[in-house]
Amino acid sequence: MRISVIGSGYVGLVAATCFAEIGHDVLCVDNDREKIAILDQGGSLIHEDCLQELLSRHHHSRLVFSTSVEDAVRESQAIFITVGTPSASNGAADLSYVESVARTIAKCAEGYKVVVEKSTVPVYTSEWIERAMIQNGRHAGEFDVVSNPEFLREGTAVTDFLYPDRIVVGAKTKRAACVMREIYAPLIDGSYAEQSSAVPPPEGARSVPLYLQTCPQSAELIKHASNAFLALKISFINAVANICESVGADIAEVSEGIGSDSRIGPDFLRSGIGYGGSCFPKDVAAFRAVAQDFGCEFPLLDEVRKINEEQRQRFLSKVKAALWTLKGKRLAVLGLAFKGGTDDIRESPAIEIVKSLLEQGCKVTAFDPAAMDRAVEVLADSVTFANDVYTAAEGAEALLILTDWKEFANLDLQRLRKALKYPIILDGRNLYKLSDMEKAGFNYYSIGRRPLEVSHSFLRNSRVIAG
Ligand code: UDX
Ligand code: UDX
Repeated sequence: MRISVIGSGYVGLVAATCFAEIGHDVLCVDNDREKIAILDQGGSLIHEDCLQELLSRHHHSRLVFSTSVEDAVRESQAIFITVGTPSASNGAADLSYVESVARTIAKCAEGYKVVVEKSTVPVYTSEWIERAMIQNGRHAGEFDVVSNPEFLREGTAVTDFLYPDRIVVGAKTKRAACVMREIYAPLIDGSYAEQSSAVPPPEGARSVPLYLQTCPQSAELIKHASNAFLALKISFINAVANICESVGADIAEVSEGIGSDSRIGPDFLRSGIGYGGSCFPKDVAAFRAVAQDFGCEFPLLDEVRKINEEQRQRFLSKVKAALWTLKGKRLAVLGLAFKGGTDDIRESPAIEIVKSLLEQGCKVTAFDPAAMDRAVEVLADSVTFANDVYTAAEGAEALLILTDWKEFANLDLQRLRKALKYPIILDGRNLYKLSDMEKAGFNYYSIGRRPLEVSHSFLRNSRVIAG
């Protein structure tokens, strides 16, 4: 089928590339000319596993880039809207980009079109898109609006798209529902996975996804409620981690105990410095605002946000408690992205923590495997960027782990110990077992677990004696 995707950000670019991968002809559009020029020359703008390979596979054949919404609309049967939906000042989603795209679609559509909202939007947005289309010259019956939320996680977005748990389609008419089924057919019937060139499924992937056809309002709510629930799970476990610290329990044991109940499940129970990213903070606020608009208070979501914000403050307090004073201290920071596997720093707890440390007079040397180019845009020269973990650690008075990159979970602890001025690690992501850190002789502070203090032997670190 001929499909267009309007908005080539993290969501749109992955969706467009994956639609090409499952056999469709895709026009991927963005109003940012520079972005489209880079994509058109075969470059990728984001760090995403498998994406570059698929872009190369389909570019100039089934996948074409353009800045013209008009061309895209004329040539496609289904038009996916994936433009940004940032937070307005009251927390509600700013839908002005969605509205503006809907108007343009209305003005240049000829023949029957299915307009698919894929951006995360509040309930009733599909109704508003329908209204905007009619106000701008379309007649009912010439088009349908469908809600088809995405559940892609950055870092694993390609395999999340190709091997989803579920595909949710909120459609009002049979005609639109049929078009959507045809688009996703290779995933629904498992034929994509059987192709020899298919991207391999991740461990534990369902052989075929649940295909859930709903009314548009349900589809819209499913997206907001899913993200809010996942955020709630994280805040819940962070609150439990804080209790663990007070009573001397271990959050790793507690999480395992809770998560092994199949009614609860083990995912999203990792305590740390709180959630970030372009979705959870924005969507929790937007869902709260939507509920309020419809007369339903949802104070639980305020609490989710509050716990999340406090989590960063608690970590900063730990840094202070471990280092005594902060002014002038040289700190090594591992991780700037909002989570491992991505270059995205939007709403990154790591960036917020670094900014607070700088405000308190610390000198920071940071390393991130993918996010340093983006971090320079917000931190400029307030931070020194290192080329690897050990260079960042060289001579630092403590090491802070702020992003859960896989690479950070297997460091050479003896080499690290030699590089650091004092053997102090503050791990905001619980990447290490206490026993490993104890063996390696570190003072190790993590989340929801007892602090590891190797008496004050760190004052006798060989470097200090030598120095
Ligand atoms: C965005 C939303 O933030 C998310 O809630 C939603 O689910 C999907 O869209 P993301 O893809 O991460 O997620 O956003 P971003 O990387 O900012 O990409 C949006 C793209 O749309 C940008 O490339 C921007 O240039 C483009 N855009 C924006 C248009 O092409 N036209 C517009 O009118 C506005
Ligand atoms: C999320 C949703 O998972 C996805 O379905 C939706 O489409 C977009 O928003 P994403 O923001 O890419 O995806 O990342 P996710 O893996 O959900 O992590 C979000 C944040 O929560 C990160 O900062 C991560 O570090 C944190 N997190 C996640 C935890 O602190 N603990 C956990 O157990 C899981």
